[in-house]
Formats: sequence, C-alpha cells, structure tokens
Amino acid sequence: MSDEERYLAISPGAIVPEALPDFRIYIRSSGRYVLWAREGNKVSSDQLAKLAEGGLKEVFVDLKDQIKYEQYIEESLGSILENQWASGDQKATIFSSVSANVVKNAFESSLGLGTMSAEVMARTQRMVKNSLIFISESKSLQALAKMIGHDYQTYEHATKVLWFTVSFLRNCPEILELIQPGYQNLKEEKKKEVVRQCGVGAILHDIGKTFVPVEILRKEGSLTEVEWEVMKRHPLNGLSALLDTDLPMFVKKGILQHHEDFNGGGYPMGLAGMNIHVLARVLRIIDTFDAMTSRRPYKASVSPRETVKIMCGKPVGNGGQEDPEQDDRDQGMKRCFDEELLRKFILFLGNVKLDQ
Ligand SMILES: [Fe+2]
Repeated sequence: MSDEERYLAISPGAIVPEALPDFRIYIRSSGRYVLWAREGNKVSSDQLAKLAEGGLKEVFVDLKDQIKYEQYIEESLGSILENQWASGDQKATIFSSVSANVVKNAFESSLGLGTMSAEVMARTQRMVKNSLIFISESKSLQALAKMIGHDYQTYEHATKVLWFTVSFLRNCPEILELIQPGYQNLKEEKKKEVVRQCGVGAILHDIGKTFVPVEILRKEGSLTEVEWEVMKRHPLNGLSALLDTDLPMFVKKGILQHHEDFNGGGYPMGLAGMNIHVLARVLRIIDTFDAMTSRRPYKASVSPRETVKIMCGKPVGNGGQEDPEQDDRDQGMKRCFDEELLRKFILFLGNVKLDQ
C-alpha cells in the first residue's frame, strides 16, 4: 500500500485547541508523512497557530483511525464551529458532511426510506453548507455552536427538520409566497435565498434549548410542572439569543411561534390560526413529525405511517379505539396543526418515498 493510500486527508480546521484526539495526526513535508501530534496529547493553540501560518490545506490521519476520527468530529462539532483557527469554509465543509450523515442515517433507519442516493446526499450537503454560511454571516454561528455543544440530539433533530423544511418548501411555491410576499416574481437567486432563510429558521428553531438543563432534555418519564415550565421557555429563549442577529423577521417569528397550536392551545403566547406565522405553522408540523419518528428519551420511535395517522387525529392500535395509554404528549397533537399545510406535507412525504 502506498503512503497516499494509507492516509486520510482531513481539514486542519477540525483540530480544535485543547482537544485530546485519540489518533495520530500527520503533516506532509517534502513528500513524506511526518508525525505532528501523538494520540492522547492535547493540541495547543501555539501548535495550531503555526499550522495556520504554514497555510497547510490538509493534515492526515491513518486510514485505520477513520472511525475514531469520525467519532471525534461528532463529539467536537460545537467546538469546531467556534474554532478560531478554522476558516468559514472549513467549518461549513465539516459541518455539512456531519449533518448530511445525520440525515442519511435517519433516511436509512427510522424513516425506512432505503439507501440515500449519492445525488440526494450531495444536495443535502450543499443545503446544509449554504445554511451554515448564512448563519455565520447573520452572526448566529455562536448560538448554533453552543446548542451543539449542549445537546447533540437537539442538533441532530434540528438538522433533519432543516432537510424536511427545505425539501418540502421547494415543492410549495404557494407557501413561500405567504412567507415572503412577491416570492413568485423574484429572480432565481433571490428565490433560493428565501428558501435558505427558511432552512436557517428550521435548523435554529430549538436554539433556546441551550438554556434548558440536559437533565430535563434527556429525562425519561414525565416532566414535573416546574421542569415543564422551564422547557416551555425555549421558544422565547431562542428569540432572545437571536435578537441581535441579522436574521429576517420571518425566521425570528418562526422560531418564537413553533410551539403555537392552530387551536390556540400552544405556547408561549397561545396564538391561534392565521395569527401564527406560516413558517411557524410549517415548523410545528415538521418538528412533530421528526420528533415522533425519532427515538425520544421518553418514548420509542413511531413509524412514519403511524405518525401521520396520529397527527391527523386518527386513533391508532387498539382496534381503532382511542388508546387511553397513548402518551398524552401525542394525544394533544390532534388539533395542533394547520390542516391545509398538514395535507400538503403528507402529499410531499408520499413523493419522498416514490423518489427513492
Ligand atoms: Fe421546540
């Protein structure tokens, strides 16, 4: 095996100060691979500064350490986004490949959609990369980095919500017209920007969970009244974390109102019907769909088909009778959604399956 085949090129931006990667890192010098950092040794800011000065585009890990490297990247994703030695492009590239894998895993496991094609995978990477560039331009990167560091599951969920939101809205120009009046007459580039901004709202929708203690986020079993009150503050916390950013108003409204129910029973304000921003009504549907089809700390995952039934208010199991044992967090969902949007989303889901 030649040296080129033995080593995996990685981005220097993936190496964060004070990290303790359990694999060796090499640099290439005069055509030879030279050991740069030993496994288990902290990489110092000085070392990274020298690396950045040298202008190296890539460093290397042994191919046999690829799995360790991938685990390290997942664990360090929040820190990588805050890594001062990484360029914006390096961050966006690393972030998009980890995020695309999150979507791919969901496709192939809980959603049961089969293998994700290379084309859908590449499109997903582009979608996430574009969102991240926009997030960093709008000064909300730090908030996202904090959320990932706080709770990886919230990030995984947010990534899938991003994928569904962008894929769904691309098929529904009439909804985009409601989000951004005049959308249909915009130039192609501007249209893409509106969709991208909706995607940013989707990936940031639960950013306020950074302020909810992980013991509450990961709690198995019901929340106490006090814990529930803390949890219910996350849309407001999310808005306050993003208040000083340059995100468009519809993104901020989408985040603030993503737990408002169509029948007025949601939080934080108890808005109803069309008083809830249309992006928030879309997020309410997709957030619920992804939460139910994913494994939650307090409940096993539900199949996409059953999820759709529950969301439509149809009793499942128990011979079509109401199941009194059914989790009340799901029971209450029946009248949460804008029926018209839910119908469109279900049609879209049918097409996702046919695409595969
Ligand atoms: Fe939420």
